[in-house]
Parts: sequence; C-alpha cells; structure tokens
Amino acid sequence: MSARPPKVVPMNDTAIAVSGLRKTFGDKVVLDGIDLEVQAGTIFSLLGPNGAGKTTTVNLLTTLMKADGGTAKVAGHDLVTEAKAVRAAIGVTGQFAAVDELLTGQENLQLMVDLSRGKAGKNVVSELLERFDLVESARKPASTYSGGMRRKLDLAMTLVGDPRIIFLDEPTTGLDPRSRRTMWSIIRELVAGGVTVFLTTQYLEEADQLADRIAVLDQGRLVAQGTPAELKRRMPGTHVRLHFTTVAELDAAARIFPGATRDDEELDLRIPSDTGTKSLRSLLDRLDEYSIAAEEFSVHTPDLDDVFLALTGHDTEAAR
Ligand SMILES: Nc1ncnc2c1ncn2[C@@H]1O[C@H](COP(=O)(O)OP(=O)(O)O)[C@@H](O)[C@H]1O
Ligand SMILES: [Mg+2]
Repeated sequence: MSARPPKVVPMNDTAIAVSGLRKTFGDKVVLDGIDLEVQAGTIFSLLGPNGAGKTTTVNLLTTLMKADGGTAKVAGHDLVTEAKAVRAAIGVTGQFAAVDELLTGQENLQLMVDLSRGKAGKNVVSELLERFDLVESARKPASTYSGGMRRKLDLAMTLVGDPRIIFLDEPTTGLDPRSRRTMWSIIRELVAGGVTVFLTTQYLEEADQLADRIAVLDQGRLVAQGTPAELKRRMPGTHVRLHFTTVAELDAAARIFPGATRDDEELDLRIPSDTGTKSLRSLLDRLDEYSIAAEEFSVHTPDLDDVFLALTGHDTEAAR
C-alpha cells in the first residue's frame, strides 16, 4: 500500500455543517432544528444531560438514522444524497462499546481491518495496540478488559480506516478519573494529527478541557454555543460556600467579604474564589481574624447543573 499523503488540514475548512436538523420519534420531538458548524481539525463538544438528544444527533450525522428535516454536510458530503461518501470519511465510537467480548483485543482490531477492505495499512493492528498501550493484553479476550481498556480498544477500532472525522459518543462516561485522563490525552493527540472530533459528553469539565467549541443541548434545541471561555462567562464561577447557623454570623461574614452573594434562606454565603490552597487559606485566615466560624465550608466548581441553571433557568432533571 502506498504511503498516505501528509495530513495538512486548512483550519478554515468546515468538517461538519448542520442546518435545521430535526428528528421525531412518534410525537416526541427529540431534535427541534439544530444548527451547528465544526471546523476541521478541532474538537466540538455537544454537551447535555441524559436524554437531551446527543446520541440521536450522532446517529443522524453518521447516517445510522434518517433525519425528519434539515440538511447536513459531513466532510463536504450531503448526509442524504452522499451517505456512502460520508461513511467513508468518518469513524464512530458509540456510547455502548462495539467491542466483541469473546474476541481478543487483537482479533477485534483484525476484524475491523478485514471489514475495511484494504483501506487499512498492513501493520495497523500492531501500531494501534502499541499506541493505545494494549500490547500486553492483546491476546486476552476483551471480556477480561477493564472499562478504560475497552474504551481504548473501541477507539482503536474506530481508527483502523484512518477516518478524518471521528464521532465520540460519551467516550468517558463511567470511567474512573485516571482512565478518563488517558482518554483525554488520546483525543488531544488525534486532533494534533489533524483529525476532527465531534464529542458528546455530560461533563462540563470534559468539554472545558477538550473542546474548541461547545454547544449546549437542551430539550432538542441548542441553547448556547461558544468557546469554553465564552460559556463560562455566562455562568457562576468557582466559589467557596460557607454555611452558618445564625443570621448574625452570616451578617458578620458578609461584611468582611464584600464580593460575596448571600442566601438568607439557606444561611449561605458564596464567595468567588479559585481552588488554590493559597486562596483558600487566606479566606479561612480572614474568617479567623474576625473570629467567625462557619458550620460548613465547601468548594464548589460549576458543573453541568450550574450551566443549565444559568443558561436555561432550569436544572438538568427538567431537561429530560
Ligand atoms: N429509537 C427511539 N425511539 C423512541 N425514542 C427514542 C429513541 N431513541 C431515543 N429516543 C428518545 O429521544 C430522547 C433523546 O435520546 P438520546 O439521543 O439517546 O439522548 P442522549 O444521548 O443525550 O442521552 C430520549 O427521550 C429518548 O428516550
Ligand atoms: Mg446518549
């Protein structure tokens, strides 16, 4: 097989363009006119709670399902009229791993190579095993793999055909923090190699860490789109929460932290702060200095619930 051409991806290329995408199941409207654009060589994250319509969006954009309305181009090809060309350009790693449990890691990869009908390079199986740190377990059945290893194998299988655009549907849901970080660095490497990644997630932190652009999906509509920094400007930041037992204590504390917001009903004070030990210590020292004791002290980093509350006025439960 001849060498592949060098991967030069002009940054102003559009990898995915979606306009007015709609999907209904019976009388349930799951996607109610979605517009988005993903630049080639970037990570785009579709952020939303369970049931928001993330997997449905992925299923539509990867031709696994037919839309009821709207248009979309993936890798420059129309989803409906050029579905085959779309399929040739993409790789999909589903929310539920496509790994065959009875086969070994190596056999799973070999199966993908066989299915790719000559599109995959000769040494691709050993290259991918190496790259994903799966060499040692290559000859063990996938049923013995940990969740993290299984996700890695699944992603490796996706890469067999060298796709230019990859769809990752909740690639880290259910993984322990360490496996999640491994997955993040793999995704970053892919993008550094010129691949475009369309990633769905329920984790604000994940979208924040990885994405060039984030779109927030709520009840079938995109309620916000922007860079992580743009979105974070629209929601409450990291803060320390102090809980008191009396209004007098809350009053006293509020006086020494003028930038804080108080919740008189809960007897809480929220003080904007980063989570560094220095900032936290100086905050505690200040309380000490005024002989104020809080009953509870907690550090709060915004999560998906905060995003939803800030952007939609309701929490993620109501989004279902
Ligand atoms: N094949 C289907 N038939 C009927 N309803 C479906 C089907 N697939 C998904 N849904 C519904 O569509 C909504 C969105 O689902 P999904 O796209 O899987 O959300 P997410 O991936 O964000 O959790 C949910 O309410 C789900 O119950
Ligand atoms: Mg899903």
